[in-house]
Amino acid sequence: MIRPARVKVVEVGPRDGLQNEAQALPIEIKLRLVEDLAEAGLAVVEAGSFVSPRWVPQMAASAELYQRLRRRPGTAYPALVPNDKGLEAALEAGVAEVAVFIAASDGFSQKNIACSVADSLTRVGPVIRRARERGLLVRGYVSCVVACPYDGATDPARVADLSAWLMDQGCYEVSLGDTIGIATADQVRRLIGAVAQKIPREDLALHFHDTYGQGVANILASLEEGVAVFDSSVAGLGGCPYARGATGNVATEDVLHLLHGLGIETGVDALKVARAGGWISERLNRPNGSRAGRALLAAG
Ligand code: HMG
Ligand code: MG
Repeated sequence: MIRPARVKVVEVGPRDGLQNEAQALPIEIKLRLVEDLAEAGLAVVEAGSFVSPRWVPQMAASAELYQRLRRRPGTAYPALVPNDKGLEAALEAGVAEVAVFIAASDGFSQKNIACSVADSLTRVGPVIRRARERGLLVRGYVSCVVACPYDGATDPARVADLSAWLMDQGCYEVSLGDTIGIATADQVRRLIGAVAQKIPREDLALHFHDTYGQGVANILASLEEGVAVFDSSVAGLGGCPYARGATGNVATEDVLHLLHGLGIETGVDALKVARAGGWISERLNRPNGSRAGRALLAAG
């Protein structure tokens, strides 16, 4: 299959990354991060989530963040919502796009949202429909698409069914999450092949965590399967509280280096992203998790 000529990079660092960092950052730092990433040309920056602050205290200030955010025309700033309460709070904060999430394994679903996959569908379906009625765009996530830290290997056919279900409910795109970052390229190809039997490849995004260092290789495999949307996190921020040892998402700077090297257009300025990555790593007092980011910054 021919690789896409243009790719959409969905920056999830301010949400998927920061939700897992040990310390909650001051709102001014989060605002600057989101604004700098949008300024770098990223057309989608997932900026926060409206979940229980007891479960994820790092995202507790998301309402204030969305209220104060200076939005760049042409950039989307989706927020993650788990239920009606989260949807209402997101609407009140002026959010125009939400993301809902389900898992392909019951073990992870129980740990992440305290219910089975089947129960989560009865909760999430109405959230999608209500969000659409209120004029919001809705993105859908499926977690643990290759393996689950509690239940083991995931059947690609289950991922395909859940993806089709999300699209039927009204999502415009489904992001397949290798939540624990364990997938290798052939597994990814098989997964995409299975899901593409149920929904068009154009409606698919891939969301890799980089635990085993396979993120960039898996993106290359996905490109060759015709996928043109990838989630990534500046400086490789993050981890996963319900998947021990899991690291953050594949780093945006590393993904951009791959894509631009292949001659694929993204509309993103890699150096500006690298600067944002260096800056936020310093604020968090943690090493910069992007090799390409470190190299770009060292080169000036
Ligand atoms: P629960 O305890 O079963 O919920 O949690 P509940 O309905 O019984 O409510 C308990 C309390 O939470 C109540 O407060 C509710 O009001 C409150 P209390 O009366 O005890 O004071 N509550 C809320 N507060 C704020 N916003 C809300 C909300 N909902 C209830 N929206 C629940 C169920 C879903 C709420 C909880 O489990 C939760 O918030 N989970 C979210 C966990 C999370 O954010 N995980 C990370 C995102 S998923 C992810 O990262 C994967 C992804 O990146 C893809 C991949 O990598 O695979 C997307
Ligand atoms: Mg994730």
